[in-house]
Amino acid sequence: MKPEFRTIIEPFRVKTVEPIKFTTREHREKCLKAAGYNLFTLHAEDVLIDLLTDSGTGAMSAQQWGAMMVADESYAGSRSFYRLEAAIQNIMGFKNIIPTHQGRAAEHILFTIAAKPGQVIPSNTHFDTTRANIEYGGTEARDLVIPEGRQPDLIHPFKGNMDVEALRQMIAEVGRERIPMVMLTLTNNSGGGQPVSMDNIRTVSQIAHENGIPLIIDACRFAENSWFIKLREEGYADKTPLEIAREIFSYADGCTMSAKKDGLANIGGFLALNDDGLAQQCRNLLILTEGFPTYGGLAGYDMEAIAQGLHEVLQEDYLRYRIRSTAYLADGLVAAGVPIVQPPGGHAVYIDARAMLPHIPSSQYPAQALAAELYLEGGLRPVEIGSLMFGKPQPDGSETAAALELVRLTIPRRVYTQSHIDYVIEVIARVNAHKDTIKGFRITYQAPFLRHFTIQLEPVE
Ligand SMILES: Cc1ncc(COP(=O)(O)O)c(C=O)c1O
Repeated sequence: MKPEFRTIIEPFRVKTVEPIKFTTREHREKCLKAAGYNLFTLHAEDVLIDLLTDSGTGAMSAQQWGAMMVADESYAGSRSFYRLEAAIQNIMGFKNIIPTHQGRAAEHILFTIAAKPGQVIPSNTHFDTTRANIEYGGTEARDLVIPEGRQPDLIHPFKGNMDVEALRQMIAEVGRERIPMVMLTLTNNSGGGQPVSMDNIRTVSQIAHENGIPLIIDACRFAENSWFIKLREEGYADKTPLEIAREIFSYADGCTMSAKKDGLANIGGFLALNDDGLAQQCRNLLILTEGFPTYGGLAGYDMEAIAQGLHEVLQEDYLRYRIRSTAYLADGLVAAGVPIVQPPGGHAVYIDARAMLPHIPSSQYPAQALAAELYLEGGLRPVEIGSLMFGKPQPDGSETAAALELVRLTIPRRVYTQSHIDYVIEVIARVNAHKDTIKGFRITYQAPFLRHFTIQLEPVE
């Protein structure tokens, strides 16, 4: 499926603009120090190109804003809820749709009801909020991605696949009664934004169901995953993204979803379940923690934005541009000699900081050191996905290192143009030229859970 022209054009015109602020290196040095060298603690207006996340940072369409104006803000039985429910069921087919304020709220409700201490939940790779919500309840979160998924420079079309033999072995060892669900994260965010093949989803579903275990999909980037299946998996080239998405969800018993990603909305999420009994228990907890089941922590206009977003995210022009423009950033970095996870993911390009900065040990957080330097050099704000995020403090004061030390350059949806991305490539190429001078960090404060959000650091001299 070669595009007719080489130049990527954004499949939209710009109608509203938001100025971005240019700053000096001196200013950024002050800002970074004041933020405890944690990019999450920066004021966003001191960032020029914000690549921290693709979550809730996308630009909405005129149709979404229009739908928001005619939303129904009724507390109970809102028309906007039924529109959202219909939009989700059209794609995913699940019976019970439970809106939440974002993805982690859906996760928290699901694991509170369905998982017990001492149980184990396998996934290809759990995202950090998923892992934290599972572990918070005393359940183990286990990652079973295929070995290829752990090798940053190895090219494989579906590096997000689950190792199905490892899953079979785990079920035999742990026992099906101690596994409340099997999960699959589409695409595999923490493993490099890599897709999962339809064949793998089908096989994982079969294994889970043979053992009486439900399959729950973390569906945050289901549309991007569907597009990769269309491009890379035999038999899917002529299917529409909607048909592919429908097949994916037909193998599952439910999903958790952050609509801040492939819902093309700035806030929102949902839990979807086929099991009526489980859904009822989840709704009861929803009323306690989020809100009434027909709004679950969202305004009527948020539900309208998501309903429309779910329609737009499956458009072929949009997905072609989305995946191709991420690949454009990857191509530019490879040409500049920067080591990245290959092939590039759907929503982000991941720099392999361990390969780029071999002089900084994991105990000094090489990916964080690189992320901070990209901010100082050109006002970029990427995010560390390495030992700062996933390192585990041990009783003797040491830490286990993360499997990979990655810097994620996350592309907000429909926000930046090709010239913004050209600038990003230029900044990173400049940093690559003086990479040997970059220094690591040590921690001065950390919270017990999800520490990377609030961590405070100081440079190692
Ligand atoms: C794969 C995955 N799962 C779950 C979440 C959590 O969603 P939220 O940020 O809406 O709570 C995220 C967010 O980045 C994610 O990428």
